[in-house]
Amino acid sequence: LLFPVILAGGKGERFWPLSRKDRPKQFLSLDGSSRSLLQATADRLIKLGDGWDSLWVITSSQIAEGVRQQLPDLPVENLLIESEGRDTAAAVAWTSLEIKQRYGEDAVIGFFPADHWIADEEAFAHTLSAATQLAASTAAIVTLGIKPTFPSTGYGYIEQGEKIGSFNELPAYHVNRFTEKPNRETAETFLSTGRFSWNSGMFVFRAGVVLEELHTHAPEIIEPLEQQGLDIYPQLPKKSIDYALMEKTTLAYVLPVDFGWDDLGDWNAIERLLKTEENPNVELATHVGLDTQGAIIYASNPEDVVVTIGLEDVVIVRDRNVTLVVKKERTQEIKQILKILQSDS
Ligand code: GDD
Ligand code: MG
Repeated sequence: LLFPVILAGGKGERFWPLSRKDRPKQFLSLDGSSRSLLQATADRLIKLGDGWDSLWVITSSQIAEGVRQQLPDLPVENLLIESEGRDTAAAVAWTSLEIKQRYGEDAVIGFFPADHWIADEEAFAHTLSAATQLAASTAAIVTLGIKPTFPSTGYGYIEQGEKIGSFNELPAYHVNRFTEKPNRETAETFLSTGRFSWNSGMFVFRAGVVLEELHTHAPEIIEPLEQQGLDIYPQLPKKSIDYALMEKTTLAYVLPVDFGWDDLGDWNAIERLLKTEENPNVELATHVGLDTQGAIIYASNPEDVVVTIGLEDVVIVRDRNVTLVVKKERTQEIKQILKILQSDS
């Protein structure tokens, strides 16, 4: 049995202006379906465990009310609300302590990002059942490795080591090295060896195993939390689990996965999901275009008309009082613009 936990505290700023403070990326549906990313994640995960009773969500106080509205079937006692988000290492530490207290140290926990897209749900369930078997039988921090397609600097990289066996007919490997968000040059070197996969951001382990590993590698997070309780939470160091634990642990294992995955990192992901052969653009708006291609066009109000002439490879987004126009290759910089906008207002 697996206790799936959704990490739902992020902001998803690169989808601004569709994502806003009160409406982070995980509350949006980006593929045209009626369920938001968070809801689709929950739908997928309740099939792995024991329905809604075994699902947990950890989020920040700013968006907790929205999470409750989006997931009305989630038991209240399974929703952990951070007074202030302290990144994922603290979130993993707190949730693992809670689950250990309720279900014991052998409870197998899976952490999942709230905002990913997965194509083949059956293959996903099959892989997670393999990960659960591996975690239950071994003192392991299990990762899921995605076959990399380009030298991304936005992901963690996992170097595959020796094969340790098969679970659910899937091979599992020891991890030689984990490197979070390398620079371009390093990413290129990794890719050329053929031994690396991208970290999917999903982790599976026993409560007792991860807590022990946190004691060894991240005492600055787990010790104050155990000794002083939740009052200390806002003072915990802001570190992601990738830096705090994954780069240091020697208990990491990887299952190579093949279920169709996209982390929907920015507007370009919309194109990967929705681009068709027939249409030169991705249109989520009433768009009238002349000599326009490779554009991604979105309007929250379907009555808004977007007119373009002679454009190529741009993103145009209209939402409430904001219109964004950005070259596709520079959507990463939306984060920087938001800092300027905040300091201006
Ligand atoms: N509760 C809570 N509190 N959740 C958080 C917090 C927090 O303070 N910060 C982030 N999260 C949630 C996000 O909402 C997201 O679902 C998940 O944790 C991962 O955080 P991201 O901020 O999206 O991480 P990332 O994309 O930079 O990197 C991670 O994911 C990549 C794959 O998408 C890493 O694990 C990489 O190694 C990995 O390749
Ligand atoms: Mg992410």
